[in-house]
Amino acid sequence: MKKQLEEHRRLFGNFEVVDFVDTDAIEALRGHITSDVPLKVNWTWEYGSEVAELRNLYEKGKVNQWNATTDLDWETPVSKDEWVVAPEATLMGQMCAMMGMDEATQKAAAHDELAYMLSQLLHGEQAALQLCGQLTNMCEHLDSKSYAASQVIDEARHIEVFAKFVGEKLGTIYPITPTIKFLLDELLSVDTVQKKMLGMQCLFEGIAVGIMDSLRVESRNPLLSEMLRRVEQDESRHAAFGVLSMRRVVETAAPEEMAEMEDWAYSLLETLQSSLGAHILRELGPQYGINADDFIAPVLEDPNYQKLSCEIFTHTVVPNLSRLGLITERTDHLWKAAGLGGRISTERAA
Ligand SMILES: [Fe+2]
Ligand SMILES: [Fe+2]
Repeated sequence: MKKQLEEHRRLFGNFEVVDFVDTDAIEALRGHITSDVPLKVNWTWEYGSEVAELRNLYEKGKVNQWNATTDLDWETPVSKDEWVVAPEATLMGQMCAMMGMDEATQKAAAHDELAYMLSQLLHGEQAALQLCGQLTNMCEHLDSKSYAASQVIDEARHIEVFAKFVGEKLGTIYPITPTIKFLLDELLSVDTVQKKMLGMQCLFEGIAVGIMDSLRVESRNPLLSEMLRRVEQDESRHAAFGVLSMRRVVETAAPEEMAEMEDWAYSLLETLQSSLGAHILRELGPQYGINADDFIAPVLEDPNYQKLSCEIFTHTVVPNLSRLGLITERTDHLWKAAGLGGRISTERAA
């Protein structure tokens, strides 16, 4: 299976890492802001409900709307002098502690890491907004179109809430990592509704749930906790849209189509997983005297880091893929070797 971003892969000890050191390549990816993408518009003349479970999800989406302006207490302080998330859950905070830096520096580094992580979620929310808009055109049934339309307003709210929290409470919106930009561009550009559904609704929505859940569990700030709880509730519904829709796809997919989806899902998640640690260290390390080249291998070898990074995937996305029959014996060893968990069931339906 050909790996994505081959030209940016480097070996650190035993680990193959997607690592961008060429600033021109980074700027080229970030500067790519308009795309001509194929979009098949699908009319329907059936205005009644045809897919009951998606109609139910649409109803749930309607009753669970909330207002980012008024439903969160924006007066809650968020300070660089506090542990906003528990110290053991931050890579940068722990590295500064290991290097003997004082607690104020550890807290500042943890604060920067939170801004960095939430910034990546913010950029992902923008991609979700745009991709879900595409789904309103491309989906076949009105139930899917209506659900996707309700998700579009959810994603607009998530952009609003993360931009406000990161920009106003944490102070810095970090740029998107080149790897995430590359992967999101791929999702926005693929031409089939099945791949968009799999890539965004199952993979990225599932990862978002995993990241938000682990951040919420470790949060020590009531505004962050409540914001994540509300967004996560929406994202769980979005991931359910992916699973319910993909169940219908896998029911009729030919074996070669299943294999192609399985390989594509693996290649996207493996690429993301291989890039996370290196991108954080390159972006945040220098201001704390941390040279990424010296620390990438030790960080990747650290069991605590391995556990935290693996949990993002094993929380929702990998079990969902496994239940859909998109992690089989053929690829199970690859998932395990990449630190992404692996197959949990031989059942085909989630
Ligand atoms: Fe979202
Ligand atoms: Fe979402």
